[in-house]
Amino acid sequence: SKEVVILGIETSCDETAVAIVKDGKKILSNVVSSQIESHKRFGGVVPEIASRHHVEQITYVLEEAMEQAAISWREIDGIAVTEGPGLVGALLVGVNAAKALAFSKHKPLIGVHHIAGHIYANRLQEEFKFPLLALIVSGGHTELVIMKAHGEYEVIGETRDDAAGEAYDKVARLLHLPYPGGPEIDKLAKQGEETIAFPRAWLEPDSYDFSFSGLKSSVTNTIHNAKQRGESLKPEDIAASFQASVIDVLTTKTVRAAKEYHVKQVIVAGGVAANKGLRSSLQQEFANLQIPLQIPPLSLCTDNAAMIAAAGTIAFEQGRRSGLDLNARASMLL
Ligand code: KG4
Ligand code: ZN
Repeated sequence: SKEVVILGIETSCDETAVAIVKDGKKILSNVVSSQIESHKRFGGVVPEIASRHHVEQITYVLEEAMEQAAISWREIDGIAVTEGPGLVGALLVGVNAAKALAFSKHKPLIGVHHIAGHIYANRLQEEFKFPLLALIVSGGHTELVIMKAHGEYEVIGETRDDAAGEAYDKVARLLHLPYPGGPEIDKLAKQGEETIAFPRAWLEPDSYDFSFSGLKSSVTNTIHNAKQRGESLKPEDIAASFQASVIDVLTTKTVRAAKEYHVKQVIVAGGVAANKGLRSSLQQEFANLQIPLQIPPLSLCTDNAAMIAAAGTIAFEQGRRSGLDLNARASMLL
C-alpha cells in the first residue's frame, strides 16, 4: 500500500512547530520554534504574547519544514493540526494555518488532540504493543491512559487539581528558579537529599487519580515556617524532597495500573517525561517487572509537531476527517 505522508502543525502553547512524517513512524522534518525566552521574564507563558509569536513564526516554520523534508505539496496526503486542549488564541493560529493549507492545496484536514500527539510521539520510536498504558505528564496534564487499539483511549486516572509540570513550575518559582521550572528542579534535586518528608497524595486506595496542589502548599508552608524560625533550608534539599514525592506517586500508580490491566507495554509522554529522576525510577521498576517501558528522546517529550503528524496519520488511516469549520478548543476530552 502507498506510504502516507502527513504534515503536522502544533501551536497549543509556547512552541510553534511544523513537521512532516511518513507512515506515522518516520520523521522527514521536525521544526520547533520555541518562545521560552520571551516568557521567561514573566515567569510563565503569557497567552497574548504566545499568540503573537505564533502568528510571526508559523510561515517561516512551515517553509523550513517543507524545505528540510525536501518534499513537494503533491506528495503530502493530509494536514494534521492540534485542535485542543490548550490556549485558544495560540491554537487558533495553527488551526487557521492548517485550514488555509487544506483549502488551498486541496488536502484532507485532521484535527488532533494534543495528548494523543504526546502518546504517538512514542510510535516514532517503535510500533505499539496493545494493550498499552500511557503516563502523560506535562505542564497541563497528568493522565494514565489505557489503549487497546490505535486511536482508542480510556482515561483511567487524571489530576484533580494541578498537573505535574505545573507543580514543578510553581515550586520552581518558590525557589526563585527561572521558567520553565521542571528542568531546573530536576538539576537541583540531584545535588540535594530528601531531608523533608513531603506528603504523598495517594487519594482513595483504588484511585488512579492524582493531586499535586497539597504538595505545593506543603512546600510553601515549609519554606515559610523555616523563614519564621530564622532557619534556612537548602534549596537543593527542598527540590530533592519535592521531586521524591512526585516520582513516588507517579511511579507507584503507573506500576499498579500496568499490573491490573496486564499491559504489554508502558509508554511515557509529555514534558515531565524528560525528568531524569522519573525516567530512572520507572526504568528500574519496569525492568524488575519485565514489562517493556518506552520513553521518547527529550526532543520528542516536549511539544513538537512530529507527534501531531504521527497521531494524525492513524486518524487519517481510520478515515477521520475534520471540516473547514474546525475550531480551536481550550478543553477537550481525549
Ligand atoms: O509537554 P510540554 O512541553 O508542554 C505542555 O503540553 O504542557 O511540558 C512542559 C512541562 C513544563 O511544566 C516543564 O516544567 C516540564 O514539562 N518539564 C519538566 C522537565 N522538563 C520539562 N519537569 C520536570 N523535569 C524535567 N526535566
Ligand atoms: Zn504538551
